Amino acid sequence: MDEFITRKEIDQTTKEIRKRISRKPRVGMILGSGLGPLADQVENPVYIPYRELPNWPVSTVVGHKGRLVIGELEGQDILVMQGRTHYYEGHSMDRVTLPVRVMQCLGIEFFFVTNAAGAVNPDFEPGDLMLITDHLNFVGMAGPNPLRGPNLDEFGPRFPDMSQAYDRELMDFARKVAAEAGFHLNEGVYVGLAGPSFETPADLRFLRAIGVDAVGMSTVSEVTIARHGNMRVLGVSGISNKANLDGSTVTTHEEVLEAGQVIVPKMVSLIRGVLQKI
Ligand code: HPA
Repeated sequence: MDEFITRKEIDQTTKEIRKRISRKPRVGMILGSGLGPLADQVENPVYIPYRELPNWPVSTVVGHKGRLVIGELEGQDILVMQGRTHYYEGHSMDRVTLPVRVMQCLGIEFFFVTNAAGAVNPDFEPGDLMLITDHLNFVGMAGPNPLRGPNLDEFGPRFPDMSQAYDRELMDFARKVAAEAGFHLNEGVYVGLAGPSFETPADLRFLRAIGVDAVGMSTVSEVTIARHGNMRVLGVSGISNKANLDGSTVTTHEEVLEAGQVIVPKMVSLIRGVLQKI
């Protein structure tokens, strides 16, 4: 049998974080490519670089800072991951998602996940936000689901329900906040692919045909673990590029980071607004 992350390792990481913070965060958040500046808004921050945490998967991707920021935002105690690790970096799915297990051990109830994504829906434009209403688990559906291996019964059931992965009340809050702030919030289905190569035009036409609105290389496994642990999930994609369905343009990581600059102010106002409502 393969090696899997153990309860002992999760506890070890949790203990190290607890030693360094006095708050008890209620909200956990992951910031994707180009969205790191959102973490600068956290008040009274304590920073913990990932490399100082035992068992933590360290990211190598440009645009990911690689630290925890623990503090306060809109009066809520919050733990922010400034940067994440991806499956394509070579970690197993259960190691990629160890941080979400640790969030559960810290007592976090709300899991806010963000990412940079390509628009498969032709109505979406770079710089838009998309509320994730559901996802397609392309990687895990036929292979490495992060819950593969012995079930950690203390965290959740062997066969967790995924019929409402994204919390309806949190989605409603997000819609209200966007309407009040006066910006358009797209909605749709996110597909998580393994990456790191971007999609071919044929991949993208296929994804469009099966009902995908936005495509990325993260989020789905994290949400699977969060739901296993019964956390309430809000997912938002920052649309960084239009998917290249006809092969006429090229997708680059630089454009993903650039679009982040337009996306960040909207993402900040959305997240702050939802934090006020929970
Ligand atoms: N494809 C996959 N992942 C992405 C994209 C994309 O076009 N943009 C940002 N992340």
